[in-house]
Amino acid sequence: MTVGASSIDTTAALSRAVAEPPALETRGLTIRFGGHVAVNAVSCAFRPGELTCIVGPNGAGKTTYFNLISGQLPPTAGQILLGGEDVTRLPVPHKAARGIGRAFQLTSLFPNLSVFENVRLAVQARQRIGLDLWSVWSGNRAVRAEAERCLERVAMADKRHLPVASLPHGDQRKLEVGILLALQPRIFMFDEPTAGMSVDEVPVILDLIQDIKRDRSKTVLLVEHKMDVVRSLADRIIVLHNGNLMADGDPAEVIASPIVQQAYLGIGAADDGVQGEGSHG
Ligand SMILES: Nc1ncnc2c1ncn2[C@@H]1O[C@H](COP(=O)(O)OP(=O)(O)OP(=O)(O)O)[C@@H](O)[C@H]1O
Ligand SMILES: [Mg+2]
Repeated sequence: MTVGASSIDTTAALSRAVAEPPALETRGLTIRFGGHVAVNAVSCAFRPGELTCIVGPNGAGKTTYFNLISGQLPPTAGQILLGGEDVTRLPVPHKAARGIGRAFQLTSLFPNLSVFENVRLAVQARQRIGLDLWSVWSGNRAVRAEAERCLERVAMADKRHLPVASLPHGDQRKLEVGILLALQPRIFMFDEPTAGMSVDEVPVILDLIQDIKRDRSKTVLLVEHKMDVVRSLADRIIVLHNGNLMADGDPAEVIASPIVQQAYLGIGAADDGVQGEGSHG
């Protein structure tokens, strides 16, 4: 019977939703540098289809939190779970292979290769094509087509033949986003993605992040200082201060909360950043 079947479906969907672990979770995540606690027992869960903006003043621990999640730094304490699996101690490549994707480590580019080759290598790294000749040949066409698509999405198709070392900084950062797309991660981590970009380049990246957000299977973490960007993209905001998770919730509520207004917006400060006046150089 339709009614019965649909109620069974609904019950099944509900129990799946309840049982499903978050895409990414940190539990009590902590790192100390000598006597300084840069990230202090941060517990937070991130779900697919959700874009979380991470805000806070300079030195709050935002990038360090990213470094812990992606594996650049080993935590002093706490856990990182990916789809419920403990990945706390896995090195960067293993975390990347499991779907944690981080942009903006310019070191990940091959400076002497062309823009296109950089993206093609990323597509290939993901696909791990077999060695029989047919699959190499047909796979190669598919790889090239996908690399082209990624370049188009970051508006860099016309620069495909240029060596990466010759690109201005903004283009290199766009290319990193292209490489990230090619890797097709489950978790996208962007740390101030538009910093250093020209006014023409910024909308390309923001539109792309909007696109990624529309894919309900992806989880996006975005560190961002620009309040207009935060407002337009965030489903949720978390605030870090001195390594502590200070607020977490609905963007409007977090932005309006007195403690955030005082500590990060500065009472009466111009609304052009989420940090207090003069705190971000
Ligand atoms: N490898 C390290 N060794 C020692 N101290 C570090 C290290 N990495 C970060 N820190 C310190 O941890 C604190 C947090 O730095 P972090 O770069 O995470 O801040 P942030 O919130 O990203 O700031 P910003 O908005 O300026 O990018 C700072 O006091 C920083 O000096
Ligand atoms: Mg930072």
